[in-house]
Amino acid sequence: MKILSIETSCDETAVSLIEVIGDFPNAEYKILGNALFSQIDIHREYGGVFPAVAKREHAKTLVPMLKKTLDEGFSETSNKSTNSTIPSIEIMAELLEREIGLFDELKSYYETHNKPDIDLIAVTAGPGLEPTLWVGVNFAKALALLWNIPVVGVNHMEGHVLSSVFDGEHLAKLQFPALSLLISGGHTELIKMDDWSSYQKVGQTRDDAVGEAFDKVARLVGLPYPGGPEISRLASEARGVNLSLFQKLPRPMLDSKDLDFSFSGLKTAVRYAVQDKELTGDEIRSVAREFEDAVTEVLLKKTEEAINTYNIKSLILGGGVSANSYIRNTFTEFFKREYPDLTLYLPDPKLSTDNSIMIALAGHRRASEALAPNTEALATLVASGNRSLSEESSL
Ligand code: KG4
Ligand code: ZN
Repeated sequence: MKILSIETSCDETAVSLIEVIGDFPNAEYKILGNALFSQIDIHREYGGVFPAVAKREHAKTLVPMLKKTLDEGFSETSNKSTNSTIPSIEIMAELLEREIGLFDELKSYYETHNKPDIDLIAVTAGPGLEPTLWVGVNFAKALALLWNIPVVGVNHMEGHVLSSVFDGEHLAKLQFPALSLLISGGHTELIKMDDWSSYQKVGQTRDDAVGEAFDKVARLVGLPYPGGPEISRLASEARGVNLSLFQKLPRPMLDSKDLDFSFSGLKTAVRYAVQDKELTGDEIRSVAREFEDAVTEVLLKKTEEAINTYNIKSLILGGGVSANSYIRNTFTEFFKREYPDLTLYLPDPKLSTDNSIMIALAGHRRASEALAPNTEALATLVASGNRSLSEESSL
């Protein structure tokens, strides 16, 4: 089967086309087309993601990404010769009425291109920024109606889990129970999996997500958005020359005896340490290293506690912050040394941050729940900013 997948949960507009041979989780996946536009340069001037701007950019970029992906995946998509009357045109116009310009772009794409050979559309339905999720969901519904293809809404965090165990062709043969540490701009969660369709949240942040803390701390020391990669670069420079410590930072909830996290106090500690000071480059590097050390220490300790509590056999790191090389290296060395029987899965750095390949993988797992391409069935597909991974188990 061929899956078209769409991701618009934050500031990446991504569309992929994946061919799947076989059944989940043993299938072979072939990436036929993959297009991703990152809005980072647009949001940088605001110092973070501005939902209204992100929504507008998604609406502008979805059809070009669709076109790029389908051009990559199919040799002949244009030169439509058949009757191109648009089915359900009023419904489509209504669906896309709030997505400025999207209806006109999609209409003209439809009129000039053949229907692609696709069996399923998978779209991120949450969690994420609700206004931007809706752009993708409405676009997916419009395509489903236009081309008469079923559609399934999937969980973004499940996508992160699956992309971490994806080697570009196959999913790993996971040993259960598995534990996922999901660290992104919006989430910090420990998820226990008893099988591929069972997700139980066993720990989470009580305030800021790790990626959010990286981004806020970066801003406090004058680094551009997104702060994660910047902090990481400066921290590594500080380690390289063994800079002296500028300010010791707390390790929040390190000994709290539960699996929850808290990062807002760490950010506040950085604020107090740096406010009203003209920091030198070396002082900023030192703060970056100490912050990264503090975060890594807490993540590692809580993860180890969860591993012992639940007798975990496979550990999965996922989400944008899992691109961080210090966290990756620290986890790799520690678990190799202390837990040699445990298998650690890290995502390909290209698949750590948001992408639509992971949405196709999650869509494949949930293919049997796809909605028929008619307005009644599609009405049940809604975007939800807080969609929880634990809910996926019962579905
Ligand atoms: O998963 P993701 O792309 O989007 C969300 O679902 O939130 O994660 C984005 C987050 C941002 O906060 C970004 O600063 C962080 O991941 N990030 C990093 C690194 N690369 C991205 N944080 C630390 N080190 C990195 N190398
Ligand atoms: Zn994400």
